[in-house]
Amino acid sequence: MTQAKLPLQESVSLESLVSDITHFEQVIAHWDENQKVVVEGLKNAIEALHKEALTRLIRSVKQESMPALRQAVQDEVVYSLLHYHELIKPPTPSLEIRIQQALDEVRPGLQSHNGNVELLAIKLPDTVEVKLVGNCSNCPASTLTMKDGVEQAIKTHCPEIKNVVSVNTPVKRGKASNTIASPFAAQEETGWVALANIDQIPEGGILAVDVDGLKLILTRVGNDVIAYRNSCSHLAKPLDKGEVIEGILTCPFHNFKYHLATGQCLTAPEMTLQQYPVTMRGDRILIQC
Ligand code: FES
Repeated sequence: MTQAKLPLQESVSLESLVSDITHFEQVIAHWDENQKVVVEGLKNAIEALHKEALTRLIRSVKQESMPALRQAVQDEVVYSLLHYHELIKPPTPSLEIRIQQALDEVRPGLQSHNGNVELLAIKLPDTVEVKLVGNCSNCPASTLTMKDGVEQAIKTHCPEIKNVVSVNTPVKRGKASNTIASPFAAQEETGWVALANIDQIPEGGILAVDVDGLKLILTRVGNDVIAYRNSCSHLAKPLDKGEVIEGILTCPFHNFKYHLATGQCLTAPEMTLQQYPVTMRGDRILIQC
């Protein structure tokens, strides 16, 4: 006599299980506080029971067969549930992935200066070799860019890395120019664009303006208006929330100080703010960009 096979139970996807939970959470969100407290209490009690059962199950399976446990955790529903109950840690990404994540974090700042950074080598156990490229490679600020940007990001993502070595030759002081922070230098001159009225610019203070995505700060001494790119020469962060005291603008991120009348950086004298030509028509301030 042949035995009839029982139909395999159809497995339910993680998405549909999560979507059921989300649906009920949305319904409960409209209940009054007393009802919510009861539901929350019930949920916590059930979860505590499940967590205890899962803990005992893991302990028991571990004793019998670690491979079986590893195999079970490959299942996305099992993994998600154990992760939810903090019974399993997410796998740590490889060292190379974490280094690339760190570099991706600093890249927008470097790219805004037409530069970039490349990972050259990982020398275990604790050293990484990198190279600044583009404008960053021959910028007088490259040592700071490495130390405060690249090195700090790598060490935050990869605490096991103790040395971040740049293969670039440091650029000597005295070679600074206004092109240090100049992602727009290659643009063609497109004429004069009106920015603001002179009385909108606080005397001795700054006004932030945006010209088709070009972010600037304007400052004024009497009728003399100066426009700078709203970008710190250190790590290209915006300066418009910085404090101005007696003509000195302090970057709110790492406290680099700039002389507003000249754009000169007082913290790292080889660096300057990028300045734009300004003219006036009546009360209107125009910039050439
Ligand atoms: S971004 Fe570091 S001091 Fe401005």
